[in-house]
Amino acid sequence: MSSSSFRRLPALNRFFPSPPLRARLWGIPVSHHLRTITTTPTPRNRESGNRVAIVTGAARGIGRAIALRLAQDGYSITASDLPALQPQLDSVVSEITSAGKTKAHAYLADVTSASQVDALVRSSADVLGPLDTMVANAGIAQVKPLLDLTPHEFQLMLEVNVAGVHYCFQAAAKQLISQQQQEPPQKDRQMIRGKLIAAASIVAFKPFALMGHYSASKWAVRGLTQAYAMELAGHKITANAYAPGIVDTNMWELIDEGLGAREGRAKGETIKKYSHDLIALGRTSVPEDVAGLVSFLGGPNSDYITGQTYVVDGGIIFT
Ligand SMILES: NC(=O)c1ccc[n+]([C@@H]2O[C@H](COP(=O)([O-])OP(=O)(O)OC[C@H]3O[C@@H](n4cnc5c(N)ncnc54)[C@H](O)[C@@H]3O)[C@@H](O)[C@H]2O)c1
Repeated sequence: MSSSSFRRLPALNRFFPSPPLRARLWGIPVSHHLRTITTTPTPRNRESGNRVAIVTGAARGIGRAIALRLAQDGYSITASDLPALQPQLDSVVSEITSAGKTKAHAYLADVTSASQVDALVRSSADVLGPLDTMVANAGIAQVKPLLDLTPHEFQLMLEVNVAGVHYCFQAAAKQLISQQQQEPPQKDRQMIRGKLIAAASIVAFKPFALMGHYSASKWAVRGLTQAYAMELAGHKITANAYAPGIVDTNMWELIDEGLGAREGRAKGETIKKYSHDLIALGRTSVPEDVAGLVSFLGGPNSDYITGQTYVVDGGIIFT
């Protein structure tokens, strides 16, 4: 797709009218074209027993750790992210393919566009074979008092963090159901046939001040996950979410800077202070802590769990 057609996408026009704002919210440049990259071009190459997962926001941070962990668990991975993070996404794919255990495929998609997410799911099925698990991990954060938020900032937060999860769950669920219709009936009619997993947060249980719209978006993810669990149980598809605490990623760098500026602390001091004051286990989380939970949610030991949001925060929130 050319850069001009990228600019014409209606969802992007509505929610990202200002490249500097996008850059500020995401901490990334915005001048890249939308295109697909594929490292394993063989169609329908699923080996028996191989599972396939899509991970959004997989270029860095928690999404990267999830993609690598699920690959270790035996999943072939479609790793997806925004065009601006293509080099990082490519390196996640090479890391998986060079481990030689499973296949990996990179696909650039913006989760705020339902049509791009549909194309992501189709591409994953074409390249890696039938889908098993969708990890709707992509998200954004912003530190700003509720009274200062512009309508655009509020809408953007909901569009990426809530609509983005919905588009991923919806497209994946349709794919999973259509696969079921094409496959011979299972002997075990209770067998789980697909998993939907979303990124929530501890703020889905107790908001952070100065992150009201982010907190609201993650509460919505928790509710949406429960609703998907109810509507899809009949198809033997589960829906769950993970709720990380303070994870040392680019997102927390932005939060550290935002809270620090408002509360009078130098860069790097807020994450230290919050970790020290809030986390019972006494250390800041790393993405691998979250990936371990997602490994459980994506594996067979969680087959009887649906509609839940699991906190993984070292002991900040006790549910
Ligand atoms: N870091 C934390 O402490 C923390 C805590 C709780 C929840 N989370 C959630 O975990 C998820 C991952 O967070 P992270 O810390 O790794 O953040 P991050 O900023 O390091 O990574 C987020 C990824 O999502 C991608 N992304 C953003 N908007 C997108 C869009 N419109 N379409 C496709 N991709 C998009 C980004 O490019 C990036 O690669 C997020 O949903 C976040 O809200 C993070």
